[in-house]
Amino acid sequence: MIDEIEKIKSEIESFTAREAAEIEHFRIRMLGRKGLITNLFKDFKNIPVEQKKQTGKLLNALKQLAQEKVESLKKEAVLHTAERTEEHKPDLTMPATFTDTGSRHPISVVRDRINNIFARLDYVISEGPEIEDDWHNFTALNFPENHPARDMQDTFFIEKAPDIALRTHTSSVQVRVMQSSKPPIRTISPGRVFRNEAVCARAHCIFHQVEGLYVDKNVSFADMKQTLYYFAREMFGPDTEIRLRPSFFPFTEPSAEMDVSCNICSRKGCPICKYSGWIEMLGCGMVDPNVLDNCGIDSKKYTGFAFGMGIERIVLNKYHINDLRLFFENDIRFLKQFEAIL
Ligand code: PHE
Repeated sequence: MIDEIEKIKSEIESFTAREAAEIEHFRIRMLGRKGLITNLFKDFKNIPVEQKKQTGKLLNALKQLAQEKVESLKKEAVLHTAERTEEHKPDLTMPATFTDTGSRHPISVVRDRINNIFARLDYVISEGPEIEDDWHNFTALNFPENHPARDMQDTFFIEKAPDIALRTHTSSVQVRVMQSSKPPIRTISPGRVFRNEAVCARAHCIFHQVEGLYVDKNVSFADMKQTLYYFAREMFGPDTEIRLRPSFFPFTEPSAEMDVSCNICSRKGCPICKYSGWIEMLGCGMVDPNVLDNCGIDSKKYTGFAFGMGIERIVLNKYHINDLRLFFENDIRFLKQFEAIL
């Protein structure tokens, strides 16, 4: 046992460590419940009586040596850590590095605002596919077979599948809603739409719409007018006026276009409204009975109104932007200018 004690003693003497974990590992190896020294104490009772006195002394000294070693190593480790933190102390005089956080896109901000206004009128949001078939985008909506909108000029058809195209409006979503639910239906469908137009400052081949639909018994043109009037005032301010001009859409009869009063010049005339005092805002009308019937809703029992607007147009007018292409470039210098409108 004395040899054993000597061996452990020299191990203790030569051991060094600076990390707390290493020191703890060493302590357990020596003094833990199954540690080397603890084991020697267990064996102690088996040694011959005449050796007990001397061995006991050495053993106690060994235990003390180990304990002292652990204590002194721990102290050193604390000092060492303090030194290291001193080295890595932040330099408070150093200039800060800023992280660019980006900001929300004005199209998303305005879209959410429109959604919220209609949510207050109990409209639910519905979404649908951007790749549509001819039936949902045109036929169900009463577009005649030879309507120019079906033409290759306006619609992006998907190669080798003449029946499949990128949707040209989100009215296609409303067709799906009418097919799959029963009146009363109150829904708005925001989304991206595509038209084959040459890209320039005032036109783009991709833009965003919010279209709305209300179908129930006895829904009237007056209901539509009041709903859109409420929307216009919530969106553009309490003094906003609206006017409806007769128009044509294959899926509504009668159809109208709605203008809102220019809130830059209060209808006095300015470059934004091209000196007319009015700004074109959306298309609307009473859902054509053919459309209701196409979608499985009894047009003798139910009537409805629909409307659709381009989000870009609203953002352009509200924030006086003169180039549509800016919306698609994701230039942070452009987007940053809208941080405050959140
Ligand atoms: N779908 C039409 C468009 O894309 C807008 C519209 C919707 C007009 C509903 C009338 C009724 O221009």
